[in-house]
Amino acid sequence: KESRKVVLVEDPSLPKPTKSKIVKLTTLRDQRVRVSGWVHRRRDQQEIMFIVLRDGTGYLQAVLTGQATKTYDAITLQLEASVELTGTLKAVPEGQKAPGGHELVVDYWRVLGAAPGADEAFTNKLNEKSDPSILADLRHLVLRGESASNVLRLRSALLSAFRASYAEHDLLEVTPPCLVQTQVEGGATLFKFDYYGQPAFLTQSSQLYLETCLPSLGDVFCVQESFRAENSHTRRHLSEYTHLEGELAFITFDDLMTHIETIICETVDKLLADPSSAALIKSLNPNFVAPARPFKRMSYLDAIEWLNEHGIQHEAEDADGNTIKDAEGKSVMVPHAIGDDIAEAAERQMTDIIGTPIFLYGFPAELKAFYMKKMPRKEGETGPVCTESCDLLMPGVGEIVGGSMRIADMEELLAAYKREGIDPAPYYWFTDQRKYGTCQHGGYGLGVERFLAWLANRYTVRECSLYPRWPGRATP
Ligand code: 4AD
Repeated sequence: KESRKVVLVEDPSLPKPTKSKIVKLTTLRDQRVRVSGWVHRRRDQQEIMFIVLRDGTGYLQAVLTGQATKTYDAITLQLEASVELTGTLKAVPEGQKAPGGHELVVDYWRVLGAAPGADEAFTNKLNEKSDPSILADLRHLVLRGESASNVLRLRSALLSAFRASYAEHDLLEVTPPCLVQTQVEGGATLFKFDYYGQPAFLTQSSQLYLETCLPSLGDVFCVQESFRAENSHTRRHLSEYTHLEGELAFITFDDLMTHIETIICETVDKLLADPSSAALIKSLNPNFVAPARPFKRMSYLDAIEWLNEHGIQHEAEDADGNTIKDAEGKSVMVPHAIGDDIAEAAERQMTDIIGTPIFLYGFPAELKAFYMKKMPRKEGETGPVCTESCDLLMPGVGEIVGGSMRIADMEELLAAYKREGIDPAPYYWFTDQRKYGTCQHGGYGLGVERFLAWLANRYTVRECSLYPRWPGRATP
């Protein structure tokens, strides 16, 4: 009852405070400042109340004493309430630790938006024991946590660093459409919808559009959402993901792989050279070391041999692609044969054993998309027709990049549509690329969430997306 009567009033004789974000406070030491944010932590020690305030730009320790701790708002203050704190910013004494090396000695404060306690309290809703589906429903609250928000901060730094690397290599950013009427990576994974009475899809890849930009803009890249209707509940599949794609003209297959390696390594170097992104990497993935160059290159044929030498088998399938089970209902495992797709599990085992980035290249044409350029065949060579295609595999994640050289010849492209049963009509603009001054060109797509899972050592790509989508989940 007593506490309800305590009313805190701002002393008008004190200097006018400077309003600031937490990240900008260092230059305001020993001055009176006003900072707004959310109560991240609260600790009471006798008559003193310590608050760690969070405003998205950083964390600030605040100390409240005397009347400031005795108001109704002080007594009922809950985590995640939004507050405005005003006081003098003091460097913490030598030997004491606080974010930014200072603390706010509060002389006036107020609650802007209260947060509930008891059953509805933030910490009751979200704790380590929470069921993954509850955590997914509460993603908007999970994001307030330190590691979830650090992943998103690193994601932002990563995209900026990629953009800077592209600028240094003269690739121009473009923004292709998401609503399309052509497929890139096969009809099976298309999200279809009705577009004013016409069939249309959500884009799987902006590659075809990037190819059309080469003659007008030169080498290009984009950061665009891609959509895959894959019923895969794995650690590395999303229904919607951020796709970083690049396309380059007048290059060879070797140039393409060197370019991918260069962009990735220069981007990682930039992140490590910047103190704030380096600190994020250190906190999320303390053992991270930049990968050594050049990356290992391994042909598809050598990979099949490697898998068999290491006893890594795959699930046997019948002619319809269904896995074959034994009498006990277990999958029958068989060695890899040339022509087999290297499945996720085998690919992951191989990458983890080798322990470094690997360019796997030269996949058989029948396993790959229609637009890929064939590898020239040597005299008397037998075996499958292979393509100038490459996947970049990273330890812990597996494939993070898929790229290839593209068919540059029009007749060859028309034959490829036919082979795949694709109607060439809606692709007229893509075919024209070969009609009006074709060129040898190639490109790639990098899954941003997969890259981030590797960089930040996250268990799943779901942690690397703001609001991840996977089969059955499009909320929040
Ligand atoms: O290998 P993909 O399917 O290649 C393409 O889409 C090419 N058209 C890109 C190009 O050449 N411009 O996909 C490229 C990358 C994969 O290596 C992976 O990192 C990511 O996109 N990716 C996914 N990430 C999360 N969830 C999914 N369902 C993904 N599918 C592909």
